[in-house]
Amino acid sequence: MNMKKLNAALLLLALIFAACATPAAESNEKEKEKPLKEYTGEPVEHVFPDLPYAFDALEPYIDAKTMEIHYDRHHRAYYNNFINAIKGTELENASLEFIFSQMSKLSATIRNNGGGLYNHNLFWEVMAPGGQGEPSEELKNAINRTFGTMDAFKEKFNNAALTQFGSGWSWLLVKEDGSLAVSGTANQDNPLMDTEKVRGTPILGLDVWEHAYYLKYQNRRGDYVQNFWNVVNWDEVNRRYSKAKK
Ligand SMILES: [Fe+2]
Repeated sequence: MNMKKLNAALLLLALIFAACATPAAESNEKEKEKPLKEYTGEPVEHVFPDLPYAFDALEPYIDAKTMEIHYDRHHRAYYNNFINAIKGTELENASLEFIFSQMSKLSATIRNNGGGLYNHNLFWEVMAPGGQGEPSEELKNAINRTFGTMDAFKEKFNNAALTQFGSGWSWLLVKEDGSLAVSGTANQDNPLMDTEKVRGTPILGLDVWEHAYYLKYQNRRGDYVQNFWNVVNWDEVNRRYSKAKK
């Protein structure tokens, strides 16, 4: 084969390869960009919530400086980053619950910051100065049915918090069938996300990122987790339980 013929053969091979390769590459891209379901609920305006109490209200269990930095820096940053990520997109006025149900199709920016926004919204609300109320009869019965006793439930919840490697959350959640479960999630994930194995509606959550406790407790995550029970707002947990069960 002379050089001219060899070059022509190589060119032909390259063209065949390109013709075969292009659709495959496109199909991989399409795989990554599966269409989102259309949001058909009420339009949501995402707002940065007020903290329901003063920075020092959860002392001595959670110190004022931690609360200030946690709420005003961390939570606010999640909110701002999330708003920037959804601005001008079809998700701009979609609910967080809807967004989480499509999580596997969305970016890490939306996952981390949307999760960070929702999780902290819930976290502030399920705490109150000195704790508030107690589990309702209905919730107590469900906890006893699922975990045996209230203490056994707390142990399981604490264990999820303590064994979460690195940053994350522990949760009490209501599964789709109305039953309760405890789970731990990494980073800013939560049980509403379609990326989670244990899915449902969270009704109690504990932030175990170091930013939530390090100033006061340093590496003693166990003491922080134990003290959390002194500030749980059971009235709010009961309300969320009743709503999630409907
Ligand atoms: Fe946090």
